[in-house]
Amino acid sequence: MAYPISGFSKLTKAEKIAWLGDTYLKNSPSSVHTLQNYWHPDSELQNLHDEFTENTLSNFYLPFGIAPNFLINGRNLAIPMAVEESSVIAASGKAAKFWNTRGGFKATVLGTQKSGHVHFNYSGDPKKLLLFFEEIKPKLLASVSEIVRNMEERGGGVLSIELKDKTDLLANYYQLACSFETKDAMGANFINTCLEQFGATLEKEAQQFDLFSETEKQLHVIMSILSNYVPECRVRAEVSCPVEDLGNKQEGNGKIFAEKFMQGIRIAEVEPSRAVTHNKGIMNGIDAVVLATGNDFRAVEAGIHAYAAKDGSYTSLTHAEIKNGIFHYWIEIPIALGTIGGLTSLHPLAQVALEILQKPSAKELMEIAAVAGLAQNFAAIRSLVTTGIQKGHMKMHLMNILNQQQTTSSEKALIIEHFQTNPITHSAVIEVLQKIRNVE
Ligand code: MEV
Repeated sequence: MAYPISGFSKLTKAEKIAWLGDTYLKNSPSSVHTLQNYWHPDSELQNLHDEFTENTLSNFYLPFGIAPNFLINGRNLAIPMAVEESSVIAASGKAAKFWNTRGGFKATVLGTQKSGHVHFNYSGDPKKLLLFFEEIKPKLLASVSEIVRNMEERGGGVLSIELKDKTDLLANYYQLACSFETKDAMGANFINTCLEQFGATLEKEAQQFDLFSETEKQLHVIMSILSNYVPECRVRAEVSCPVEDLGNKQEGNGKIFAEKFMQGIRIAEVEPSRAVTHNKGIMNGIDAVVLATGNDFRAVEAGIHAYAAKDGSYTSLTHAEIKNGIFHYWIEIPIALGTIGGLTSLHPLAQVALEILQKPSAKELMEIAAVAGLAQNFAAIRSLVTTGIQKGHMKMHLMNILNQQQTTSSEKALIIEHFQTNPITHSAVIEVLQKIRNVE
């Protein structure tokens, strides 16, 4: 076989799988069968999935579940979540129920602006560049008039274009820093199309600007791309209740629990190693909603973690305080989501997720995602500072272990019964299973 392989993407799916079987799966013929086993029997639906990306061979399922009892801004919602990790949905449901009887979650969108840049090189007089920019600004906007028409009809569009001198960071480096409103669309394609057009107009106009010398006319665009850092597209979610209302069976005394809880948050505020895990738990909730609704979780992850490090040290995304006997607990995150366009409109399950959420606007979905993150963090810290997480986690994980061991339903029932009162570890489960099988 000669590498690199040419024309692979032009092969049919069957040919690609045959190639894979011959090249990498010779010792594992069942893998080929598994790939085929995961095809959807409805060929139309399978074709739809095949076309989401390239060189598709099969589907990779994730569980799609819901966490009910979320009271958000006075509305009861069940939040759809796509996530493989055991305990995440259970934890969400528990936190939702806890806060449902304590006033629920309040969420507020603090801004919806997104941004992007034309990164370009210019070696010349900065004052002339500024004059040039002021002169061509209307032309830049005019050059995207067709692209923005639909978006403007929906109330969005280009909000601003600024020239930024970044030569203190990198020689000859300037930007057109642009901001956008994309309403219910995530807007990545819209923003990138506008930016590429701005870049082309910028270069073309530079060639014709009389004040520029021949060298200055060689202004050239390096790249035009949106930023996934969206601090102006931000949402806050919060809960609050009298400290004594925090107490119940698991927490014990409300005041003691609140103090321990806040200490748990403070550790994540000051200690980056803990903050990473703390925020990972928050992302368990956020990513699951982002995925279920067909949004781009990589963009969301990158933007949120950058925000967590915005002051120079990576820190907690959630915060808590007690004021006048009231426990306040909140999260603030930047997050760009869409409820129209892209996979949100194409993936049938993303459509179902949006239906479950009562067809939210992008702003409402931002609120829901922030609430899912806060709820997840609440559940994690609550467990960590009381029982520890392993108790609940292993209970959920028990099913995974049983499935790995291909237990029958009667074996499952016996083992679940046994571990109601015994600590769950992998080796303990295997031991009990072996005992049952030896008796049988
Ligand atoms: C596990 O997926 C998430 C936690 O580790 C989060 C945390 O420690 O806060 C439980």
